[in-house]
Amino acid sequence: MTNVGSNAPADHLAPVYAQFPLQITDARGVFLHKPDGSKVLDLYGGHAVAALGYGHPRWVEALTEQAKSLCFQSNAVALDVRRRAATRLANFCGLGLDTVFFVNSGAEANENALKIACKMTGGTQVIAVEGSFHGRTAAAGAVTWGADKKWYGFPQKPFDVTFIKPSDADQLGTLINDQTAAVIVVPVQGVAGAVDLPKEFLQALRFRCSENGSILIFDEVQCGFGRTGHPFAANMYEVTPDILTTAKALGGGFPVSAMMVSDMVAPYLKMDSLGTTFGGGPMACAIVETMIDIIESEGLLQNVQQRSAEIREKCMVGPVVGMQGAGLLLGLRTSRPAKDVQSELLKSNILTGTSADPNVLRILAPFVLESQHVDLLRQALARLPQ
Ligand SMILES: Cc1ncc(COP(=O)(O)O)c(C=O)c1O
Repeated sequence: MTNVGSNAPADHLAPVYAQFPLQITDARGVFLHKPDGSKVLDLYGGHAVAALGYGHPRWVEALTEQAKSLCFQSNAVALDVRRRAATRLANFCGLGLDTVFFVNSGAEANENALKIACKMTGGTQVIAVEGSFHGRTAAAGAVTWGADKKWYGFPQKPFDVTFIKPSDADQLGTLINDQTAAVIVVPVQGVAGAVDLPKEFLQALRFRCSENGSILIFDEVQCGFGRTGHPFAANMYEVTPDILTTAKALGGGFPVSAMMVSDMVAPYLKMDSLGTTFGGGPMACAIVETMIDIIESEGLLQNVQQRSAEIREKCMVGPVVGMQGAGLLLGLRTSRPAKDVQSELLKSNILTGTSADPNVLRILAPFVLESQHVDLLRQALARLPQ
C-alpha cells in the first residue's frame, strides 16, 4: 500500500524516463502487440537490443533449457557453457581479441576497459570523441559527450578527459601524448544519430595509439555484434582495437555484455584485477552461444546488409532527405523535426527512435527484418508530409 504523503510516484518507479505513448501486452517476431489487438512494427528494438525480434523459438529454448539445467553459478565455478560462449565470441569476431570478460551492461564493460587501460599505461588522460555515448557510470559517463552539462553527478572524474572531432585526425600526434592512457571511440555512433565515423579517422587513431603506447578501445555496445551486417564494426572498417566492448544485441534481450581484449592486453587481466557477480552467468552464456548459432545458421549478417540496402534505396520518401549509418543502425535525416516524424509513424503503428540530432530518426531494426517490413516503413513515410 502506498504511504499517504509519500514522495514516491504512484507506480513506485523512478520517473527518469520519457516514455512512448504506447501500451503493449506482448510481442512476436518484429511486432509489438497492443491491448486492442493491433500490431506495431518495432524498428527500435528496445534501444537496439531485440536483434532477433521477439519470441525466436531457439532463443526461448536455449534460455528455458539452461534455466532447467543450471540457472546460475558465478565465475568462481568453471562452466563449460561459459568457456564455449567465450570461444564462440572470439571466433565470431575473428580479430584476435581472444580473451573475453563477460559482464552485464554496456557501461560496465566500458568501465572495465577504461580501468584496464589506465592501469596498463599509467596514463592520466583519456581521449573521447564528440557525440559519443558510453554509459552512465563514473568512467563511462566521464567520456560521454554532453554528460557534464546534463547528468554527470560525481564531483570529479576518474581521469582527465579530452574530446576530439574526426576532423582533428591530423593533430593526433599532439593530442595523444605521453599522458594518454586510452582513446575510446564508437565507430558508428548510435545516440548521436547513426553517425558512421570516417575510416581514415579510425585508422589514424589506430596508428597513433600504437605509436604512442595508448590503448584503443572500440565501444561497440550498440553498433557491434552483427548490427552493421558484419560481426563487429571493427571488421567492417578493417581496424582492430586493443579492447572492444559489446552488449545490447549480444543477448537479444537477456542482459549480457562483454569486454574482448587482444593478446597485448590479456596479460594485464590478472587474478582479482576484475570481478562481477552476475557477469558470465550460465543463462547469459547460453544465450551468447545461441545468438551466434542463430546469426550464422540463418544468414543474418547478410540479411542485415540486404535490408539496410533496401531501406536506403526505398525509404528516401516523405520527410526523409538523407541516410547515414551502417547495417541496421541507420539514421534517416528528416526535413522536419525527427520527433514529429517519429510520433506520426507511431500513429501508423511503426516504432522508431530519435537521436541527439533533432533531424535524425534512428532505425535499430531486428536482424530478422524482411522486405515486406521495409515496404511498410516506405508506405508510412510516403504518406507523411515532406
Ligand atoms: C555506444 C554505447 N555505449 C554504452 C552504452 C551504455 O550501455 P548500458 O545502457 O547497457 O550501460 C550505450 C547505450 O546506449 C551505447 O549506445
